[in-house]
Amino acid sequence: MSVSLDFTGKTVVVVGGTSGINRGVAELFAEHGARVAVASRSQDKVDDTVSALQKLGAEAMGFSADVRDIDAVAAGLGEVHKAFGDFDVLVSGAAGNFPATAKGMSANAFKTVVEIDLLGTFHVMKSAEPFLKKPGASVINISAPQAYVPMQAQSHVCSAKAGVDMVTRTLAMEWGEEGIRINSVVPGPIDGTEGMDRLAPTEELRQLCVDSVPMARMGSPEDIGNACLFLGSPLASYISGVILPVDGAWSLGGCGGMSHSLKAFARQ
Ligand code: COA
Ligand code: NAP
Repeated sequence: MSVSLDFTGKTVVVVGGTSGINRGVAELFAEHGARVAVASRSQDKVDDTVSALQKLGAEAMGFSADVRDIDAVAAGLGEVHKAFGDFDVLVSGAAGNFPATAKGMSANAFKTVVEIDLLGTFHVMKSAEPFLKKPGASVINISAPQAYVPMQAQSHVCSAKAGVDMVTRTLAMEWGEEGIRINSVVPGPIDGTEGMDRLAPTEELRQLCVDSVPMARMGSPEDIGNACLFLGSPLASYISGVILPVDGAWSLGGCGGMSHSLKAFARQ
């Protein structure tokens, strides 16, 4: 059987898709023919992204919602379903991060990241499940190496993203009988993104990070988008419950000196 990465006629929803890596993912699906919906808190960012997707020739829409609010997420996804029908691919990637040691953060700071990353992922998946009825439908959660590489000044993110990967794996089992595939994509350090700017804010730290990647470069949003295209396509029709690092082998070496450098400039 011949299969391709043509998403013409398919609906792709990217939650947290209005900047950085996830916006790159949304744009790549649009370039491959999909109709694309994006969501995030800022209506301005949603509008800007929808207009960029339309300029790429895609049918596009968006809605503003905080993933911590399941009612807002469900209402927004319902609007997308009304306009675009059942979903083929759902990408869930809204996240928050800042470097802070456990002593340097309040309980509310820890809770905030867990609520955005972990609870938010659950809200998005639970609200979208009634719309994942097409044969081959799949979910891609955007995780992080912190899910399995402990890093100082990242206890909140490590805990939250480890939870995200376990939601991926447990729901891959629960929803498998409905034909829904669920996978996590784990980006390495991705150049020019908010996440990297927060974790490596100086040129010296940026270079330290590059030097710690066996492939000797940072990744791009397109590197992550390509993995999502594959996982969302029929080429991956028997792949579910996988945690896929797309990181130039960065996490194999424990993400270099990231743990020490982060602790050095985090709020203590
Ligand atoms: N160090 C320690 N604590 C911090 C912090 C830092 N650098 N930045 C925020 N916090 C704390 C706040 O002080 C607050 O705790 P408090 O109420 O006890 O004072 C708590 O975190 C929540 O902050 P708040 O600004 O109210 O949260 P928010 O919901 O408006 O924003 C964030 C969420 C903090 C995660 C914000 O950085 C964000 O919106 N991030 C999205 C973009 C992003 O992180 N991109 C990278 C993705 S990898
Ligand atoms: P980013 O540009 O800050 O993107 C985050 C996206 O999520 C934005 O669209 C943001 O838009 C949205 N968002 C944030 N909080 C939200 C909330 N509470 N509700 C709804 N939407 C919310 O970050 P990025 O660096 O590209 O990271 C994207 C993803 O990749 C994240 O899951 C991150 O953990 C993961 N990752 C990044 C790197 C990296 O190198 N950057 C490495 C590993 C993993 P609004 O502000 O409008 O809400």
